Amino acid sequence: YVIGVDLGTSAVKVLLVNQEGKTTAEASREYPLYHDQPGWSEQDPDDWVRAVTEALHEVKETLQDNDAVDGLSFSGQMHGLVLLDEEQKPLRRAILWNDTRTTAQCREIESKVGKKELHEITKNPALEGFTLPKLLWVKEHEPDVFSQADAFVLPKDYVRLKLTGELGMEYSDAAGTLLLDVAEQEWSRTICEKTGIPFTLCPPLTASHEQVGVLTEDIQSETGLSAVPVSAGGADNACGALGTGVLQEGTVLSSTGTSGVVLAYEKDAATQVEPPIHYFNHGAPGAYYTMGVTLAAGHSLTWFRETCAPEKSFDELIELAAQSPAGARGLLFTPYISGERTPHPDADIRASFIGLHASHTIGDMARAVLEGITFSLNESVASFRRAGKTIDRVIATGGGAKSRLWLQLQADIYRAPVVRLEVEQGPGLGAAMLAALGAGWFATAEEAAAVFVKEAEEIQPSADASVYESLFPLYQKVYGVTSELSR
Ligand code: XUL
Repeated sequence: YVIGVDLGTSAVKVLLVNQEGKTTAEASREYPLYHDQPGWSEQDPDDWVRAVTEALHEVKETLQDNDAVDGLSFSGQMHGLVLLDEEQKPLRRAILWNDTRTTAQCREIESKVGKKELHEITKNPALEGFTLPKLLWVKEHEPDVFSQADAFVLPKDYVRLKLTGELGMEYSDAAGTLLLDVAEQEWSRTICEKTGIPFTLCPPLTASHEQVGVLTEDIQSETGLSAVPVSAGGADNACGALGTGVLQEGTVLSSTGTSGVVLAYEKDAATQVEPPIHYFNHGAPGAYYTMGVTLAAGHSLTWFRETCAPEKSFDELIELAAQSPAGARGLLFTPYISGERTPHPDADIRASFIGLHASHTIGDMARAVLEGITFSLNESVASFRRAGKTIDRVIATGGGAKSRLWLQLQADIYRAPVVRLEVEQGPGLGAAMLAALGAGWFATAEEAAAVFVKEAEEIQPSADASVYESLFPLYQKVYGVTSELSR
């Protein structure tokens, strides 16, 4: 067996996976989020460790005495800042990826490093969610805390430190700090110097599958596991790409949870994408992925149901949406209910229904919401195409993969075949694959995916694709003409 630990924002999910890539046991534990001020989002790093240890104990209980666990690894929520003192204890709560207090620090980074140089080194823009702005915020607002800092790590790396005693980070998550030279896979002295962050705070780096230690004796006695070797792990989106088999040029992942992510495999760091697109190191050694984020994907649909059709279940709502034709009888929705990230990094933009008529039904509105979310994700797909990428197939996961209508909408709007997987374990399965690679079960990520990832069906674009092709440019115009509304 191998174990994949998926450290999410609201809960951790631990998977026990056998050599056929089948999940035989899983356990989950939640932990609190703290929003002490508007825009703040924090967690207590020791809550993660407690939750992981309990969940590991629960899956261990399902094993027989002679069952061996060959490896364990992590998928982690990205970007969160954990500041450690000399004794490797957290100096304050972690500041998470969805904390937006750092707009001033983003502008400071742009002026001190220069937007162009920042992009050349990190291949990413300065966004509130990333780690460097959080480091600068603590330095400015909590100088006493900052002066005691000896190192910083990301959420899953803190758990790995407590599980193994080994401090470190790996490339895929380090790429989301805005301190990594993404192509060279090393910390950038230039960015540290220009922003005033001591280079010594940056932890040692490894590849995602590399074994970095074994479970400590304390963790062994708390969980019942043996001295299981631990691999470094990966960012949740990198593990999502691994766990869905996004391992060739031309393959794209479209994942719709509360937020939505579209990411494309890159064999190297050479593709030139437009700056709002993120460019991170993959969990597969030497590879990369480009990525765009829609902040309110599933969230737009839940908001719509709760606000406009609370008496309907999701299935009923989708059923009504399926009765409305492509284009929702002239109704257009933009999903900016909590701002947007790609292609418009704009926390203040607001959503809209455009073209409402007295004859429109809840079904038309639900269809427009699904189409609007998919149009927003298609902005990232369109960016990939403008960068010269060919899109052969899109693997769908999350809410968008659970409905036949939404799968078809994606195929039509992306103008590409969309694949549904047999079983979806997403980032947790990617983490288990890293553990399996570290343990030597497979020589390459591709070999691991051939065993762990099983496709169920491929959905082809239909005649409706041409309707969406003419609607998409209209959708794209809405941002420009409504952005003034919220200022
Ligand atoms: C990626 C991002 C989110 C987090 C969620 O840039 O901010 O997808 O990784 O955990």
